[in-house]
Amino acid sequence: MNRFGVDFPIAILSGSSHPVLAGKIADKLGRKLTSVDCFKFRNDNTFCKINECIRNHDVYIIQTSTIPVNDTLMETFLLIDAAKYASAGRITAVLPYFPYVRSDKKDQPRISVAARLVADLLSTAGVSRVITMDLHSDQITGFFRSLYDQFYASAAILPYLRKRDLANHVVVSPDIGGMKRAKYVAVQLGLPLAVFNKQRMGNNDQVEVAEVIGDVDGKHCLLVDDEISTGGSVLRAYENLVKMGALSMAAICVHGVFVDGALDRLEEAGIDEVVCTDTLPQDGDAHRFLTVLDITDILAEGILRTHEGRSIGAMFGQ
Ligand code: R5P
Repeated sequence: MNRFGVDFPIAILSGSSHPVLAGKIADKLGRKLTSVDCFKFRNDNTFCKINECIRNHDVYIIQTSTIPVNDTLMETFLLIDAAKYASAGRITAVLPYFPYVRSDKKDQPRISVAARLVADLLSTAGVSRVITMDLHSDQITGFFRSLYDQFYASAAILPYLRKRDLANHVVVSPDIGGMKRAKYVAVQLGLPLAVFNKQRMGNNDQVEVAEVIGDVDGKHCLLVDDEISTGGSVLRAYENLVKMGALSMAAICVHGVFVDGALDRLEEAGIDEVVCTDTLPQDGDAHRFLTVLDITDILAEGILRTHEGRSIGAMFGQ
């Protein structure tokens, strides 16, 4: 029974994007994943069926934005719709890496704001609440018409970074937009902060780094970002930091998207270490310099608190 006097059981459902994470969350909560079938017909239409009764249940659908992104997203909508038709009591979409997260503003003429559209479509599908982790920007939090909570991977990243000797280290943000996130890490670790003034050239993932604000000469750098996709931002930052006299650089991100052989290129460039979390499926053994941090505890604890009507902010010192 939760504090509102409502007695409805939790059901944890996994989309096909990250069954390992969903399974670990279910284990942590002492539950079995609710059986679900999702597949594509030969005509490319997606089909989802929930194989167990979830009537009046508090349903959590675990899905993250893996490639092919549009298929994964459609599956999310269909699972929400299926849960609604199955008379779920409440439906929460747990989307650690939010689909289309970087399309968060109208900064060119005649473009869509896809992250806002996704938030709208989740509501249309019938979601009661959305849970995400470390969104690309704060304005996205205002896109949701449903209830909404953001979780932070810093609860996994900070303990990992505190294990190393942080003498002579500086936290670096690869761009002005990420400064708040990097500053939080710097403050928590008691380290100075440096910030790059990064510019994207057009829409083809090309990055140009103009200048850095802060002192990196003779320092070990911890580059902190929300995600690494092509690795272009990290590579440009590394090249510039080396030119400016930095001794080494580790790249720390929440979402390891790693497209187009990004990890190989980062390793070849001589970057010391890449750290990400498992908001996306990772093969931590594939690269000697990739460390994957587990966010199961954060998501499981947040789901339990949501179910019981307890504070989420308290998990993150808010
Ligand atoms: C963009 O502003 C983000 O914060 C990341 O810096 C970006 O998504 C990384 O992408 P890439 O690895 O392709 O440079």
